[in-house]
Amino acid sequence: MSSQNSRAVNSPPKLSTGAYKQLCETLREKPRKWLITGVAGFIGSNLLENLLLLDQTVIGLDNLSTGHQRNITEVISAVDPLQASRFSFVEGDIGDLTTCRSCCDGVDVVLHQAALGSVPRSIADPIATNRSNIDGFLNMLVAAKISKVSRFVYASSSSVYGDHPGLPKVESVTGRPLSPYAVTKAVNELYAGVFGLNYHLECIGLRYFNVFGRRQDPDGMYAAVIPKWVNSLLRGEAVYINGDGETSRDFCYVANAVQANLLAGCTNNPDALMQAYNVAYGEVTTLNELFTLLCDRIAAYRPLTAEASPHYRDFRPGDVRHSLADISKAQTLLGYAPTHSIREGLDEAISWYIKHLL
Ligand SMILES: NC(=O)c1ccc[n+]([C@@H]2O[C@H](COP(=O)([O-])OP(=O)(O)OC[C@H]3O[C@@H](n4cnc5c(N)ncnc54)[C@H](O)[C@@H]3O)[C@@H](O)[C@H]2O)c1
Repeated sequence: MSSQNSRAVNSPPKLSTGAYKQLCETLREKPRKWLITGVAGFIGSNLLENLLLLDQTVIGLDNLSTGHQRNITEVISAVDPLQASRFSFVEGDIGDLTTCRSCCDGVDVVLHQAALGSVPRSIADPIATNRSNIDGFLNMLVAAKISKVSRFVYASSSSVYGDHPGLPKVESVTGRPLSPYAVTKAVNELYAGVFGLNYHLECIGLRYFNVFGRRQDPDGMYAAVIPKWVNSLLRGEAVYINGDGETSRDFCYVANAVQANLLAGCTNNPDALMQAYNVAYGEVTTLNELFTLLCDRIAAYRPLTAEASPHYRDFRPGDVRHSLADISKAQTLLGYAPTHSIREGLDEAISWYIKHLL
């Protein structure tokens, strides 16, 4: 598979067959105006890049709390000047309703990504997480309603499955949340439902499962596992596994998450609205297996990695033991067809990290 990172400037995003391919053609012919909140973050900047390459008009809102200006700069340099001219950035906070309202003005589709991520961060500071993830979310819903946006797609999370042991996870069966972060995502889904009922705002929630890919931040105490481990392995530093390494996840490459957002933002299927969908690849990988996958790939650049072994330490509070998605609902109602397995995604992601971290 060709690398997105090595994709020539101004070439179209990689397409799957079917609904997504058709949608990309339609969007090029009939561009829309999108608002991406959290645009300077990992998923937001990948959404931005793909939308600009499809000749869309995009407003981006971000307070640069966990996101970075450099992510936007990288996207702008990956698109042509005309495409770049269709983007405007607002540095602001979704805690401010006036900012949310002005950003929603004239917008067709909102892709709401802005939130404070990380389970441990939410356990350390539940008030900050609540402020961005619930108060800010409500501001965005109100702003979208006032501006009569035609679609509100928002980032939910696999964390809403909480303590329910069932595998694979199906959308209709959730458990008790295990962290303040999980509470905020569950509340988002409740609020979205209520805004659909009372104000006819068309909302779709996307329950992301461990999304990874280029521009995911490798630094800081709340970094996600893949960028954190890639960073450590590239520097020859110790890699720590919380627990016995048999904790498992359904790792989802960011191109799959981008596809789900665009499909949700544009679907004409009335049955697809007012729903939440699993966004994943549908394959399980343990942390021990992930460690091996990363070492195999990084050894080509840093041969000593072939001999690396992880250090095991205590399980982390709030973490779910196993996570695997049933993606059939998104496949059936949205036409979602993920293009990248974890292996294919890691090939692309690691070549990006090599370029940016070494
Ligand atoms: N990455 C994953 O695996 C994953 C999994 C499940 C859910 N999610 C959700 O997806 C969304 C995007 O996550 P990400 O991984 O890109 O994280 P990220 O931290 O890279 O991006 C979030 C962005 O939101 C911005 N932001 C945070 N609070 C804000 C506020 N109050 N006002 C304006 N901007 C604000 C940050 O500066 C950042 O740029 C989040 O809602 C997250 O909870 C991500």
